[in-house]
Amino acid sequence: MAKATIILDPAFVVGKTDPRLFGSFVEHLGRCVYGGIFEPGHPTADSEGFRQDVLELVRELGVTIIRYPGGNFVSGYNWEDGVGPVDKRPRRRELAWFSTETNAFGTNEFMNWCVKAGMEPMMAVNLGTRGADEARALLEYCNVGSGTALSDLRHEHGHPDSHGVKLWCLGNEMDAPWQIGAKTAREYGTLARETAKLMRWLDPGIELVACGSSSRSMATFAEWERVVLEETFDVVEYISLHGYFSKHGNRSRDFMAEADWVGRYIDEIVAVADAVAARRRSPKRVMLSFDEWNVWYRTRDRATRTKPGWPEAPAILEELYTMEDALVFGAALLTLINRCDRVKVACVAQLVNVIGLIMTETGGRCWRQPIFYPFQHAAQWARGMVLDMRLTCGTFAAGDGEHFPDLVSAAVLAEDGRSLALFCVNRNFDQAIDTEINLRGLELGNFLESHVMRSDDLNATNTAEEPQRVRPEKGAAATAREGGWRLSVPAASWCVFRFECRPAKNAG
Ligand code: AHR
Repeated sequence: MAKATIILDPAFVVGKTDPRLFGSFVEHLGRCVYGGIFEPGHPTADSEGFRQDVLELVRELGVTIIRYPGGNFVSGYNWEDGVGPVDKRPRRRELAWFSTETNAFGTNEFMNWCVKAGMEPMMAVNLGTRGADEARALLEYCNVGSGTALSDLRHEHGHPDSHGVKLWCLGNEMDAPWQIGAKTAREYGTLARETAKLMRWLDPGIELVACGSSSRSMATFAEWERVVLEETFDVVEYISLHGYFSKHGNRSRDFMAEADWVGRYIDEIVAVADAVAARRRSPKRVMLSFDEWNVWYRTRDRATRTKPGWPEAPAILEELYTMEDALVFGAALLTLINRCDRVKVACVAQLVNVIGLIMTETGGRCWRQPIFYPFQHAAQWARGMVLDMRLTCGTFAAGDGEHFPDLVSAAVLAEDGRSLALFCVNRNFDQAIDTEINLRGLELGNFLESHVMRSDDLNATNTAEEPQRVRPEKGAAATAREGGWRLSVPAASWCVFRFECRPAKNAG
């Protein structure tokens, strides 16, 4: 059996997880909205057309914040198309995903859905085909109480109360050649700064996210962030990061290591943001919004991501996730948690059907993908203080021979200080890891429970017919030992171990 040691001491913490770390994303893309969260005529649809079966799973998942309406979609979107009487809303050819957009679902439907799902909305404005004035108008429509043309229009549309949207993205992936209205860093930075200025004047209570690079592999990566932050530093709270993990052929080792560039990516953006701050002698720290992340490779190339004939809500980007994907997903999630000092917002892309945590049949059933469970566990138990752990374990070689740790872990002390959750991903496919937890300054309570997700078949997935093939089960207990605990993390598994705990009486 492989071995690992983890040292935990509550005197050494990374920081507190922001609830917004457990966010997701709903884009007008494929069947995420239509046939996903919204399907009038579905047997479980409520009077507003929201699927109750999906809503139940969304609540179970524990998502806190949801980004909308895109993604690439937002860069060609006229928000005015999606408000007011539904029968008057225009149908449009949508150029991000080459589909027909009916606009039957729009801003007010989204806000109502968020209320039902118990989530905070996170809105993106169109800085592709439109600009500062449209963003100002949408903000007025959403957030001003009454007494202005657009707030009164919202009243007329049946929504007297302000939607009170706090968090706004200034466009989406504006560096990307595939983006409608892509820009250079200077063009985007100037536009984002002026848009932010107007939006803040209108509603000083909002928080703003500037677009970072659309991925770490862009040629302009890091220089883009530098220029954009030079322009927007004083008017934004966050810079965005987007990351998708890919498997090439059957290279499982390389795939496992994909999650590890998340940490490097975060370090690099923090360095750029803080360098911009240093040039201004500013104590301000721009935080990170990792507002698109997931495993995505089966449906990623251009040929498979659109369907001919301008279909409505085509079934595109519908990845069926496996146990192996859940390991990479879980490792990336733990990295985000371990960097909660700077990552304050994170959104899994996306919520339903489109590279989704949840799958549906239009008109039929819905089920949880394997990646649903690590997210659910973290959203529930990673709320509190992340301990700055010291982890020693074996490694595996990937790619060009670089070594990566077999075990990825995060330890979170609950806000009330009375329980501790230890999350683990074992990337050793052959051996369990016998893990010693050395506790310092923490008094032992009882072992509470463990949950283990694994499968003999790493390609196992969940389907409508077999919705529970990959799911967590109750795991083995940890055993107390002098000064800590000993536990076993099964080969190729995602695990959570929960303990009662309280600060040691002699903790200094
Ligand atoms: O999430 C799918 C797409 O990936 C988004 O629309 C875009 O922002 C990113 O490239």
